[in-house]
Amino acid sequence: MARIVFLGPPGAGKGTQAAEIARTAGWAHLSTGDLLRAAVRAGTPLGREADGYMRQGLLVPDDLVLRILKERLAEADARSGFILDGYPRNPAQARTLEAITPIDHVVYFEIPPGVLVERLTQRRHCPSCGRIYNLATLPPKRPGVCDVEGATLLQRTDDRPEAVTTRLAAYRDQTAPLLDHYRALGLLRTVDAAGTPEEVTRRVRAAVGLAAAPREPL
Ligand code: AP5
Repeated sequence: MARIVFLGPPGAGKGTQAAEIARTAGWAHLSTGDLLRAAVRAGTPLGREADGYMRQGLLVPDDLVLRILKERLAEADARSGFILDGYPRNPAQARTLEAITPIDHVVYFEIPPGVLVERLTQRRHCPSCGRIYNLATLPPKRPGVCDVEGATLLQRTDDRPEAVTTRLAAYRDQTAPLLDHYRALGLLRTVDAAGTPEEVTRRVRAAVGLAAAPREPL
């Protein structure tokens, strides 16, 4: 059982690593961004309210995010361990989380800011399986098509340059102060998030005390 938070700026690779490590460790991947996007797609009242904030790159109000997170944390797969990807995002959310569950590790994805805009504007995802690609660094085998599902890849609405600028500012002003908070609690594990996805996976696994994953046959 491990309870882990992934912290870092937009585009640092949190979602890419959370999907891989949760899959191999048998933990749940709890992404508040994915949960909110699913609510937007489903057209729920919460999704309709969140949509305007997300399109602009602003944080969604705390009470909406908490509602969706609590529902997800209560699901059975989260009992064997989880990676929280995208929560908490401000000091109030950190306090709320501490009231809900203990946390074992907070992994900080440290990355030079210069690479983030390129990573975000080149990102594409599969609407069917959620797999994340990058036109520059992790392209699909066939242009524009998911390797696994064959679905046409999409771009997130908040990966447009104006929204990216707002998201980076929201991170700097509201989320980055959490680093000092978790450092003071002795929970912060800083990982160099530059390098290939495989290199970063090895660093994150080591940071949370996981042995290297067995190599999968190609
Ligand atoms: P969310 O979905 O959480 O987005 P984010 O934090 O901005 O993070 P990203 O998903 O953009 O980046 P990532 O670090 O996961 O990078 P990725 O692995 O995709 O939140 C979206 C919105 O939802 C927020 O703006 C807000 O409105 C709302 N929201 C969510 N949670 C909230 C909360 N708690 N409170 C309030 N509002 C909330 O990688 C990026 C790209 O780089 C990809 O193309 C990938 O293929 C590529 N890449 C990854 N790793 C590497 C590597 N090592 N080398 C080269 N390329 C790489």
